[in-house]
Amino acid sequence: MSAPETPETHSQQQQTTHFGFKQVDTSQKVNMVKDVFQSVAAKYDVMNDLMSFGVHRLWKRYTIDCSGARTGHKVLDLAGGTGDLTAKFSRIVGETGQVILADINDAMLKVGRDKLRDRGIVGNVEYVQANAETLPFPDNSFDIITIAFGLRNVTDKDKALASMYRVLKPGGRLLVLEFSKPSNEMLNKAYDMYSFHLLPKIGQLVANDADSYQYLAESIRMHPEQEVLKTMMDEAGFEQTTYHNLTGGIVALHRGFKF
Ligand SMILES: C[S@@+](CC[C@H](N)C(=O)[O-])C[C@H]1O[C@@H](n2cnc3c(N)ncnc32)[C@H](O)[C@@H]1O
Repeated sequence: MSAPETPETHSQQQQTTHFGFKQVDTSQKVNMVKDVFQSVAAKYDVMNDLMSFGVHRLWKRYTIDCSGARTGHKVLDLAGGTGDLTAKFSRIVGETGQVILADINDAMLKVGRDKLRDRGIVGNVEYVQANAETLPFPDNSFDIITIAFGLRNVTDKDKALASMYRVLKPGGRLLVLEFSKPSNEMLNKAYDMYSFHLLPKIGQLVANDADSYQYLAESIRMHPEQEVLKTMMDEAGFEQTTYHNLTGGIVALHRGFKF
C-alpha cells in the first residue's frame, strides 16, 4: 500500500504534519502519539517480540555493538520506552557510568522502570520524561545517544536532531535505529502485505488496539528513507554519517559523530 501523501522531507515547515497517513495540525501530533503509546505500553514488549518474530533483539544487539560503549560512559537512551537498550548499556557502562532513559510518555517510562528494577538494574540508570525536540540537559553531556524506533514519532525531526547534537559531547556518537525502506521490491510488497493486513489484526488480538498498529504501519511508510535521514543528520551537524541496512532495509541503523 502506498502512502497518500508525499513522505516527509527535511525541508517541510508547515502548520500541518502527518500522523500516519492522516494530515493533522502540527500542534496535535505530540498528543496523538502520546495516546498511541499510552494505549500500547502494557503490551509493548510482547507485541515487539510477536511482530518482529524476536528479530528486534538482534537489531538492538547490533546497535549496542556499533555504539562503542565502554565502562564509565554517559549514555542517553532517547525515546527509550521500556528500556531494552538501557538495560544493555547499564551493564556495559558499570558503576562509574550512567544511562538516562528519556521518553515523552509516562506510561512507557513506568513499564520500563518497573521492568529494569525487577531485573535488578538500579544504581546507574535515571528516568527522565522529556521531548526529544527540547532535551533538558546541558550542552556536551553524553558520550552516546541512541534513539531506537523513536524518531519517526517525533513531530519536528530536525529540531530533535539539533537537540541531540547539542547535548552530545565532542567525540560522541548518535545512533538512530529506525524502520526504513526495504531495498528489494519483492520484500517491499511482502512487507506491505504484512504491515497493513496482518499487523493491525495482531494488535487487535493481543493489545485490543488495531488503530495503534495501523498507525505503526503508516508511520513507517511516512518516515524519511535511508538517504534522506542521512542528509538530515548531516545538516544537523553530524559528521562521518553512515547507515547500515538490517533485514533487507526493513530497518536501518544510522550513525553520526560530533567532533
Ligand atoms: C516504538 S517505541 C520505542 C521504544 C524503545 N526505544 C524500543 O526500541 O523498544 C517509541 C517511543 O518513542 C517515544 N516518543 C515518541 N515521541 C517522542 C518524543 N517527541 N520525545 C521523546 N520520546 C518520544 C514513545 O513514547 C515511545 O516510548
